[in-house]
This record gives sequence, structure tokens and C-alpha cells, in this order.
Amino acid sequence: MKILILGHRGMLGSDLMLRMMAAHDVTGKDVGDFDITVEDDCGCVIAECSPDVVINAAAYTNVDGCETDRERCFAVNAVGVKNIALACRGKGIRIVHFSTDYIFDGRKETPYVEEDEPAPLNVYGASKLEGERFLQAFSDRWLLIRTAWLYGKNGKNFVKTILEKAAAVKTLDVVDDQIGAPTYSWDLAAAVQLLVEGGHEGLFHLTNRGRCSWHEFACKIMQYAGKNDVTVRPIPSADLARPAVRPAWSVLSSRKFSEATGKTMRFWQIALQDYLERTGCRK
Ligand SMILES: NC(=O)c1ccc[n+]([C@@H]2O[C@H](COP(=O)([O-])OP(=O)(O)OC[C@H]3O[C@@H](n4cnc5c(N)ncnc54)[C@H](OP(=O)(O)O)[C@@H]3O)[C@@H](O)[C@H]2O)c1
Repeated sequence: MKILILGHRGMLGSDLMLRMMAAHDVTGKDVGDFDITVEDDCGCVIAECSPDVVINAAAYTNVDGCETDRERCFAVNAVGVKNIALACRGKGIRIVHFSTDYIFDGRKETPYVEEDEPAPLNVYGASKLEGERFLQAFSDRWLLIRTAWLYGKNGKNFVKTILEKAAAVKTLDVVDDQIGAPTYSWDLAAAVQLLVEGGHEGLFHLTNRGRCSWHEFACKIMQYAGKNDVTVRPIPSADLARPAVRPAWSVLSSRKFSEATGKTMRFWQIALQDYLERTGCRK
């Protein structure tokens, strides 16, 4: 397949590049090559490459930053998706796009399924939901994957932040009233490849298996990295007073993915151990 990956230098985009390159003819584009908010730029990169599949991993992912930079956030996460959809429409090009657990309000007590009603609590979630709606309205062939709590080799993420902090201080305060599923971008990239190669379309939830709070996640990072001298204290979200409100519960059910592919995602603890091993942080 001829595949164009947009945002190929980002956390997920870079893992998708590595995975897909082994089996397909892959081109990557990112900031500097094009601007997803400019309709003509999107038309040009897609016409130039003439792909079978466009994978859009480009996004504005600074959740707190979105609260103050609403315009840019919607331009990248919503209008950008419309630009891609319009450039692919009528040409038989399949679009693969990503959304987030933050489109939900967290009031549910069981894992969110694809049919659940979105109700975002913050600007980032609202912009991603608008992107989903543009994709469905303006694209004729789409695969939409909602994922959550990503970490990976490239880019800023929770695992790196916790390891950096633990190198500087001996006590960390981490929130214990938000529950989700940490997801290794390398695992997500493999699952995306499976869906793309299987010709799947429609909406899928996709994360590593299991669930935890950010506090439990931080404790496991410390345990697997051998940082036994660091204390991780649980705190409520209210103590952090971050600009964007996060859902208290944003566990996604990957059941539809398993039924479609016959595969299950591995548990987040196993994926985390693997990530720390690969990045030389496992003790
Ligand atoms: N990270 C998470 O925890 C998480 C959770 C759920 C869903 N997701 C979704 O998963 C997808 C991938 O996320 P990620 O964390 O891998 O993102 P990321 O690391 O922030 O990568 C996004 C890429 O898009 C580029 N980009 C930003 N604005 C652009 C523009 N105007 N034109 C072209 N490219 C632009 C970025 O460049 P710069 O770095 O130069 O800005 C970056 O290379 C996104 O759709 C995100 O919403 C992420």
C-alpha cells in the first residue's frame, strides 16, 4: 500500500512510520512540509503523494494549552481534519484519524464503548470531537481510532515526566482520582497496522488492557525503574488546579477491535515494562 503519514515526527506518528515502513511504501509529512490548517497545503501533499491511505497523526495535543489557545486548537484538531477529508474525498483514499478519551465526561462507571454519547469537559476534547464530526461529514472512507494516555519513545509524556522528576526529588504528588488506560504508542501503532491491512473502516476504541489511576501508573513506573527511594503520594485533582478539567473515568473498551481482528491488546503493565526496557530505564 502507498501510505502518507501526517505528523510523522510526533509520538504516535514516528512509531507508525517505523512499523508501516517495513511492509509498505510510506511517506511522512510534518510541520515544515505543510500546515494542516491550510486547505491548499493539504490538497498539495495528498495530490503529490497520491496515497491509498492517509494516516493523520498530526494534532495540537497540549491539553492545558488548548484552554488558552482555543483558536489554534480548533484550527489544527477540527478544521485540519476537514481539510484532509476534502482532499481525499472522491478519490478512494482511506483516512485513518485519531481521537481521544477526553471527548467523554467521565460519569460512566464501566468502560466507554463506541456508541456512548460524547460530552467533552475541556477545549481539547471539544476540538477533537469537532474533528470526528468533520471526518464523518466530509470523508467517504474513514477509520477513526479513539485512544488514551499515550506514552512512547518520542515526545513529551507522563512516563518521561515522572522519571525526570524522580531524578530531581524524592517525593512526588500524583493525582489518584482520574482512572484511565496507559497506552504504549508502539503497541497502538501495531494495532493500527492490523486494522489498516485488514481494510477496516468505522469507529474503534483502542488502548492497552487494564486500567489505573495516574498515581498507580506513577508507582509502577518507579517500581519497574528501580526507584525504590522515591515516595509517590496520592493527591486529589483539585490540589493541582490545572487549566483543563479532566474526566474522572475515561476507560475505553477495546472489545470491538478484538472482535474485528481476533487480537487483544496486552496489559498496560507489560507494555510499560517493555517500554522501560527499550529505553534503557528498566532495573
Ligand atoms: N498523547 C496522548 O496522550 C493522546 C491521547 C489520546 C489521543 N491522542 C491523539 O493521538 C494522536 C497522536 O498524538 P501524539 O501524542 O502522537 O501527538 P504529538 O506527539 O503532539 O504529534 C503531533 C504532530 O503533529 C504536528 N503538528 C502540529 N500542528 C501541526 C500543523 N498545523 N500542521 C502539521 N502538523 C502539525 C506536531 O508538530 P509540532 O510538535 O512541531 O507541533 C507533531 O509532530 C492525536 O490525534 C492525539 O489527539 C493522543
